[in-house]
Amino acid sequence: MISKADIEGLFKKQLKKIGDAALRDKVVDVWLAGCERGGWKSVDDLLNIPFTLLTDTKGVNFIEHTLAVTDGAIALAQAQIDNYKNVPYPIDMDRLIAGGILHDVGKLMEIEPDGSGGYRKSHAGRCARHPISGAILAGEMGMNDEVINTIICHAKEGDGRPQVIETVLIHQADFATFNPLVMLKKGDLIQ
Ligand SMILES: [Fe+2]
Repeated sequence: MISKADIEGLFKKQLKKIGDAALRDKVVDVWLAGCERGGWKSVDDLLNIPFTLLTDTKGVNFIEHTLAVTDGAIALAQAQIDNYKNVPYPIDMDRLIAGGILHDVGKLMEIEPDGSGGYRKSHAGRCARHPISGAILAGEMGMNDEVINTIICHAKEGDGRPQVIETVLIHQADFATFNPLVMLKKGDLIQ
């Protein structure tokens, strides 16, 4: 059984940076509910999930990806805050970090073990891609609309749609981890 303390342990460094205690708690609760809904039983289970089924992740797991995207988005925000005299759009770090930790929470329902050591798309995943299922879960649990915008619009579902600035940053950090793997597979990444 995955506990609240397990989730807090996995995302400790990032959760600490969320100033709003109620939001921090809600992020953990949504993750925990995702684990329950997806049927994941242990932290080791979570550490074995590939972060995507769309390309060879070269061993990068779902938790590592979520941490890298969250840290990457924080760095993108910080780079603008540090270097612009006037940041033209206020960036809400609490929302950004919550959105980073939760952007792929729907993958807990979208991916399942295939019974022979691998992973496949679940029935729920075929019915709704992870941005949609993650947003539904977060909405059910009372997450604010802006973080829901990040979950639902961080991938192709967000193309051409209105987005909060935090969604834009999470999207860029997300694809910075995904595109190089796709290019590597195609032989398009120059080494
Ligand atoms: Fe992602």
